Amino acid sequence: MSSSPDSRPVIAIDGPAGAGKSTLAASLAARLGLDRLDTGAMYRAVAFAALRDGVDPADARAVAELARRLRIDVGPAVRVDGVDASRELRGPAVTSVVSAVAANPEVRREMVRRQRAWVEAHSGGVIEGRDIATVVLPDADLKIYVTASEAERARRRALEAEATANDLDPSAVAADLARRDHLDSTRQSSPLAVAEGAVVVDTTDRSVEEIVEEVLTRL
Ligand code: C5P
Repeated sequence: MSSSPDSRPVIAIDGPAGAGKSTLAASLAARLGLDRLDTGAMYRAVAFAALRDGVDPADARAVAELARRLRIDVGPAVRVDGVDASRELRGPAVTSVVSAVAANPEVRREMVRRQRAWVEAHSGGVIEGRDIATVVLPDADLKIYVTASEAERARRRALEAEATANDLDPSAVAADLARRDHLDSTRQSSPLAVAEGAVVVDTTDRSVEEIVEEVLTRL
């Protein structure tokens, strides 16, 4: 472990939607007694607030201003300006605009600043997203890039949609996933990519326990 003995490790997890980032992040955090930050929830919170306030997600300046003044608390529940928006954040309206909002460089600048501050305040932790190991925390103690087959990722997202009672047609979930992956990987500002030195893990046919054991040997 490259962190000093009295500080806690920083673990960065990136990967496309439905690859298994959250499951792995939760298991690693529980196992190591670390706090966890879902940065996707932060971009979703900005998208949610834009819809809430009638701000056009394509209006880069207005969305950036909104992002800077927004209060976002990411915990077991996600509170936006003090209101629990956990369910809406996973719903189809937010999901359909979040990648456009996340492609906004000024929004990213603000979220990255908050994410680094979170790590500082928590003295380490498990942070998941798309650009964590490449941009936010390139010096993380452990960098993990998770993937899974497209079919498996769509299946997981459909289950998640059911679980949050945002009932969606499975083919719509698959189409949305492919569209979002494309936007996230091809945008100019911090596209999804495998960081230098990242451990690449395919979660398609493997249990979370097995993956946790494997990645812990790298820490
Ligand atoms: O992880 P989740 O699917 O909730 O992320 C929602 C969206 O937020 C992604 O599709 C991506 O556009 C954006 N995102 C990002 N950078 C991160 C985390 C999420 O651009 N670090």
